[in-house]
Amino acid sequence: MKQKGKQFKIKIEKLVYGGKGLGRLNGRAVFVPQVAPGDVVIVEETSRKSGYSEAEVVRYLERSKYRTTPRCPYFGRCGGCDWQHIDYESQVRFKRDILEENLQKIGKIKRPNIEEVIPSSSPWYYRNRAQLKVRNGKVGFFAKGSHNVVDIDRCYLLKEDIHDIMPKLKELLKELPSEPSDFHIYSSSKGEVLLKIVYSGRFKRINLTLERVREILNLNVVGFGIYKTGGDGYPERIKFFGRDFTYEVIDKFKFRVSADSFFQVNRFQVGNLINRVSRAAMEQQYMLAGDLYCGVGTLTIPVGRYVHRAFGVEASFSAVSDALYNKDINGLRNITFYCRQTEEALSIVKDYNPDLVIVDPPRSGLNQRVVRELSQIPRLRKIVYVSCNPSTLARDIALFHQFGIDMEKVKLIDMFPQTYHIEAIAYLRKVK
Ligand SMILES: C[S@@+](CC[C@H](N)C(=O)[O-])C[C@H]1O[C@@H](n2cnc3c(N)ncnc32)[C@H](O)[C@@H]1O
Repeated sequence: MKQKGKQFKIKIEKLVYGGKGLGRLNGRAVFVPQVAPGDVVIVEETSRKSGYSEAEVVRYLERSKYRTTPRCPYFGRCGGCDWQHIDYESQVRFKRDILEENLQKIGKIKRPNIEEVIPSSSPWYYRNRAQLKVRNGKVGFFAKGSHNVVDIDRCYLLKEDIHDIMPKLKELLKELPSEPSDFHIYSSSKGEVLLKIVYSGRFKRINLTLERVREILNLNVVGFGIYKTGGDGYPERIKFFGRDFTYEVIDKFKFRVSADSFFQVNRFQVGNLINRVSRAAMEQQYMLAGDLYCGVGTLTIPVGRYVHRAFGVEASFSAVSDALYNKDINGLRNITFYCRQTEEALSIVKDYNPDLVIVDPPRSGLNQRVVRELSQIPRLRKIVYVSCNPSTLARDIALFHQFGIDMEKVKLIDMFPQTYHIEAIAYLRKVK
């Protein structure tokens, strides 16, 4: 039997990156999930680490004024969301506070200039893709901190056409000779759906036509693929049926996005992201722009309209193929793309000697060598750093500062409503 932890009363002061609330017991930090600032709660300690404790709510004594009723019946059990119990306006404000605190504490900026906060025009139905887990006939997301699948029949974060796809995927399961570990589903802004059926171990041959998949899912599925999780954890394609790409139209730009390429997940915010990044290129006259971690050219192509020449660097072969195609369909001849890890493309970047650099790395941020070498580019004037992790952003900003590059301002663009995830665009300028 699980031993009972110590119980005590705390008041939640604020939310921290990761989504938990922070309270204190005799000065010691206590982190509690699914609470809101202002909640007064009796908690039970679940683990004790050096310097802080983790705890769970046993009873509410007072409820925060920021609370609202979660829309989803699975909230609390399903690991997909963190903050449905907080009203959306407050979620965005708390994200702003977390960004500010990270920039102050880790980034060592006394008063960060958070120039703009851009909420998602809808906090629901915004995601164009999902990676759903499958276990013993259940389809859903992992429960928080576990590999148990929470069986769900809908998710209000997903685009309308795919928000209640789970029961249909269960129907599809019945026609598969062996159970996959994941379904990855992507629905473009035009409602074209790509499906990946992902296996993590051995599986039997699948005899399923595209027409049958389309019929079961009752969606405009343009293609589906069978994948196997490789040693690096990424799904490796075994076979694809139908078309393995779709298109996204964002304002005046069109992007081909293949099943294996990255595309921004919040369909209401991609245009705002493109606008805020390309505005930086438009406001000042830059000659040459480099876009590192460029994906399918989502930012390179719009920025390419305002500079003489541009280049993009991207590790995924699929994304680079899309980017090369995308520059053509958008009529831009002044852009080149390189399929390389950024770390291995630094000599190419130096040879270009760009005055504007855009970076949009994964959550781990930039590595030290990338920061150092970018800082040493002779012609460099500005870096636009798009980040999905305020801690690594702040860490990298502190390092850039050591090399004579300072943050002028930052914008928060809420890509991930109902979750603790924070997307920011930081504008850095060479000062020395
Ligand atoms: C956050 S996405 C940004 C993509 C693009 N800027 C956009 O807005 O769609 C990060 C991209 O970096 C790529 N990537 C990850 N690690 C990389 C690396 N070490 N070097 C180059 N690209 C990398 C991924 O394949 C992905 O396309």
